Amino acid sequence: MTSKCASSLLGFVISVASRWSKRAPLLAVEDKDLGAPSRGERPTLLLPPLAPGDEVAARAAHTELSADGLSFLLDLRDGEPWSSYLERLELLRSGRGGPEGWVPSTFLIAQVGSELVGRTSVRHSLNPWLARWGGHIGYAVRPAFPRRGYATEILRQSLAIARALGVDKVLVTCDEDNAASAVVIERCGGVLGGVAPGEDGSPDKRRYWVEHVRGDRQELSPPN
Ligand SMILES: CC(C)(COP(=O)(O)OP(=O)(O)OC[C@H]1O[C@@H](n2cnc3c(N)ncnc32)[C@H](O)[C@@H]1OP(=O)(O)O)[C@@H](O)C(=O)NCCC(=O)NCCS
Repeated sequence: MTSKCASSLLGFVISVASRWSKRAPLLAVEDKDLGAPSRGERPTLLLPPLAPGDEVAARAAHTELSADGLSFLLDLRDGEPWSSYLERLELLRSGRGGPEGWVPSTFLIAQVGSELVGRTSVRHSLNPWLARWGGHIGYAVRPAFPRRGYATEILRQSLAIARALGVDKVLVTCDEDNAASAVVIERCGGVLGGVAPGEDGSPDKRRYWVEHVRGDRQELSPPN
């Protein structure tokens, strides 16, 4: 399947899922690619699109990560109304509505039960900045939910989505001093390709390539 076809297919899946249910995850893609349905009472992590009812929790997560100099809601503008932001995320999927040079990207939140635990952004292609520092996938977990396996599961599902978008060789990067993220990427099959000097004094970036998505669903702990 060409990248354009896969992109259209994923867009179709998201838009149908969004209309069907505000909570519809992208499992149509994930299950097809990984074939690993959840079993028993293990918590399941889903990656649905951001919905109107997520505003309070998502803005709270944004404030939490901002305290560490990170961003939860990508490219959220000061004072931007929630409905406008959701519309812009739709546009960003086709590369419109964002800063100049941004490539098409799919932004999804991570939920375990009713809890918003993290987010991911899957870039459909690379621009020069992403090819050096940013990579295809950016993910984050809220500080309240460390070491429950959430980042590993978010990345595992994000890799399947990237695959469905036609990206066969996925670049995932992390700061040289982000040991936890390095573990997450390596658990998902990342092979270190090198380290790029940091941009403008920021930490160097470990650059990993993932060519084969691993099929095992991550063992998760519940949020509470
Ligand atoms: C880094 C981050 C993604 C980890 O999320 P997480 O949900 O805690 O990750 P997981 O539970 O899937 O796995 C974390 C693993 O990292 C390892 N780890 C955690 N802290 C560590 C540390 N200080 N040193 C070394 N390894 C560490 C552990 O092996 C842990 O697995 P374990 O609990 O099974 O032993 C999360 O803290 C985060 O979002 N940070 C801010 C944003 C960010 O860094 N994003 C990544 C961009 S590349």
